[in-house]
Amino acid sequence: MASLLDRKLLVLTGKGGVGKTTVSAALGLLAADRGLRTIVVEVGHQRRLPELFGLTTEDAGVETELRKNLWSISIDPDRALLEWLQALGGRVSGRVLASSGTFQYFAAAAPGAKELVSMMKIWKLTQSDSRPARPRRRSGGYDLVILDAPATGHALGMLHSPQTFGAIARVGPIASQTQRVRELLADPARSGYLAVAQPTEMAVTETLELQDGLHQRLDRTLHAVVLNGALPRRFSTAELLQIDSLDGSDSVMRSAAMAARAVHDRARFQHNQLARLRRRHFEVLPVPFLFTSELDLPAIERIAAHLSKFF
Ligand SMILES: Nc1ncnc2c1ncn2[C@@H]1O[C@H](COP(=O)(O)OP(=O)(O)OP(=O)(O)O)[C@@H](O)[C@H]1O
Ligand SMILES: [Mg+2]
Repeated sequence: MASLLDRKLLVLTGKGGVGKTTVSAALGLLAADRGLRTIVVEVGHQRRLPELFGLTTEDAGVETELRKNLWSISIDPDRALLEWLQALGGRVSGRVLASSGTFQYFAAAAPGAKELVSMMKIWKLTQSDSRPARPRRRSGGYDLVILDAPATGHALGMLHSPQTFGAIARVGPIASQTQRVRELLADPARSGYLAVAQPTEMAVTETLELQDGLHQRLDRTLHAVVLNGALPRRFSTAELLQIDSLDGSDSVMRSAAMAARAVHDRARFQHNQLARLRRRHFEVLPVPFLFTSELDLPAIERIAAHLSKFF
C-alpha cells in the first residue's frame, strides 16, 4: 500500500453519506504531512474542505490553500461545461450561453459531456504545468490529486465519460484530451481507486457493485476499502456471560446490560460485513467511529493518524 500515495490521482467513492469527504480530507492531511503537494477535489456545490479549515472561499471554482502542501477546489460539472463551451464559442458570453438554451441543448444532446469536462479539469491538476493560484513557494503543480467523487453511480458515470463522450468526438482536440483522461484513469501506475463504506449491509453491497462497475467499465479494481465508522468489539465471551447474568431486579443495571449487549451485537454485525469484504479478498482499512459532537479538524486528524499505518 505504501505506493498508493505515489499515484497522481486517487479516486474515492462509495454510497452517499458513508464518509467519502471525511476520508478524502484525512488522506489529504496525511499526504500533505508527508510532503506531497496535494489537492482535494470536491464535486458539485460542496465546499466542505475550506469550511473545515475555517476558510470562506468567494469562488468555489478556485484552488484554495488550506495549509502547507494542501489545497482544495470544488468542481461543478454544469459550470465546467459552461466555461468550456464559452471558451469554444469565443466571444459568446456565459450569460447568453446559459440563457440561450444552447447549453441545456448541448448538455442533453451530449451525454457525459459535463462529466468529461470535469475530468479534463481534474486531469489538468495532475499535470506539472498546473500551478496553485497563489503558491507559497515555487510550485511545479500537484503531486497528488484526491478526488472526493460523488456517490457510486455518478462516480462511475464520471469515470466512464471518456468512453461515453469519446463515441461522439472521435477526432480533433476533444478526442485527444479525452484520450489523455482515459489513459490516466486506466493506468495503475498513475491512478488508484478506493471505496469508502460503512460496515452496513447496503454500503458493503454497493462496494461490491462498485468493484464490478470499475472492472466492467475501466478494467480496473479497487485498491482497498476504507471501512468507516467501525465499532470496537469491547467484550469477550466470558464478559458477555457475566453481563447477561447481571442482577435483573436492578433497573439501572438491567439498562446498562442491555446497552452493552446492543453495542456488542452491533459490533458483531459490523464484523460480519467486514468478513463479507474479506471473503472477496479486499484489503480493508478500518476507521473507527469517532464519538465527538462535531467532526472538526482535530477529529479528521485522528482519522488521518489511523489511516497512516496503511499508507
Ligand atoms: N469515522 C467517523 N466517525 C464519526 N462520524 C463520522 C465519521 N466519518 C464520517 N462521519 C460523519 O458522517 C457524516 C457523513 O460524512 P461525509 O460527509 O464525509 O460523507 P460523504 O460520503 O462525503 O457524504 P455525501 O455522499 O453526502 O457526500 C458527517 O456528518 C461526518 O461528520
Ligand atoms: Mg461528501
